[in-house]
Amino acid sequence: MADESPFDFGSTVSREAFTDRRQELDRLKTNLSSGINTVLISPRRWGKSSLVEQAVIELRRQRKDVRVAVLDLFTAGSFEEFLESYASAILQASSGKWEERVRDAKTFFRAIVPRINIGAEPASEVSIGFEWKEARQHVGEILDLPERIAAKKKLKLVVCIDEFQNLANWSDPGQVEKLLRAHWQRHKHVSYCLYGSKRHMMRELFNTARKPFYRFGDIIWLERIALEHWVPFLQERFRSTGRTITAELASSLARTMGCHPWYVQQLAHFSWAASGRKVRAEDLRGALDLLIATNQPLYQRECEIMSYTQTNLVKAILSGETQLTAQRVMHDYQLGTPRNVQKARMALEGNDVIDRTKDGYELLDPGFALWFAREFLGRAIAPA
Ligand SMILES: Nc1ncnc2c1ncn2[C@@H]1O[C@H](COP(=O)(O)OP(=O)(O)OP(=O)(O)O)[C@@H](O)[C@H]1O
Ligand SMILES: [Mg+2]
Repeated sequence: MADESPFDFGSTVSREAFTDRRQELDRLKTNLSSGINTVLISPRRWGKSSLVEQAVIELRRQRKDVRVAVLDLFTAGSFEEFLESYASAILQASSGKWEERVRDAKTFFRAIVPRINIGAEPASEVSIGFEWKEARQHVGEILDLPERIAAKKKLKLVVCIDEFQNLANWSDPGQVEKLLRAHWQRHKHVSYCLYGSKRHMMRELFNTARKPFYRFGDIIWLERIALEHWVPFLQERFRSTGRTITAELASSLARTMGCHPWYVQQLAHFSWAASGRKVRAEDLRGALDLLIATNQPLYQRECEIMSYTQTNLVKAILSGETQLTAQRVMHDYQLGTPRNVQKARMALEGNDVIDRTKDGYELLDPGFALWFAREFLGRAIAPA
């Protein structure tokens, strides 16, 4: 029996650790290789970064004329820092050899003279810096770098930017948005894939009519992964380490976690760690207890920042109430006035704690829902 877990919830997943998303992968790949900008939006940990990672692997394998640059705004503290990593990532993506990158860095800038840093061997990383006093006036030249390179080299460039909503932390984000949009929308040989984990900010950026990025591209609203894909995936992953799980237990595992990708992998990992050759129902029960105990500090913190009305509103939702401003519901759960309910609901939605469904509301975090129901409603935690 292999002694390494086949499940991963600590980083992005791809290749054999990645399941399904066939439609989304095809749509994303087709968009990006044909110049259609794409925006990816989902609640936290549903697999945006993994989807892009897998799409990039497949694109690089299937399309020799397509080059992909991936960058993450998580570490870009300012617009200037972003522009430096943007230029570096684009040079990196568009040429294979470091000599060529250095040459490109020299030839593709006109008004600006970039600082070129070459990484230690054997890494052929070339990173770019700018003298901001001079470069400030020529930001457009930096933003248009991928278009100039792609046109000249007869390539298609794809620029993927993770945690895109972080630009809100830079100074004058409104101006930056306008500038990016103005340049990027003119690029004929480049497509942009923008995604990020703060859903309400992403929605605000891309789905609000008065904002520059409105109608920037195809918006993919990523869904959870369906049960029918989880069951064979889980069975196969257990089998790859010489263990078995029945379809019934695999299904129960995925349903317990509401088919939430990060949570399903986590529960599968704890079940794997607890099991022998055959996964038993009690392994799954123990794994679920462990999962909740492990995440408890996060749930407690989440609860601490909720107001009295918000907490009561969550109780009402978990108890199956759908008419949150009905007199009886407001009375039973001490919600105050319809205005209080409205305010609490908006705050919970903004923080991605709850989400609207076709007939009411649901909690987005299945682990938090189980824990909360135990703490506040006295329900036992058990697999579905
Ligand atoms: N297609 C998939 N198949 C199997 N597991 C997946 C898949 N996509 C995501 N996961 C699981 O979900 C976890 C989170 O994925 P990922 O980091 O890609 O999500 P994200 O939406 O980018 O998260 P964040 O909102 O934190 O940026 C992964 O570590 C993995 O456990
Ligand atoms: Mg991510």
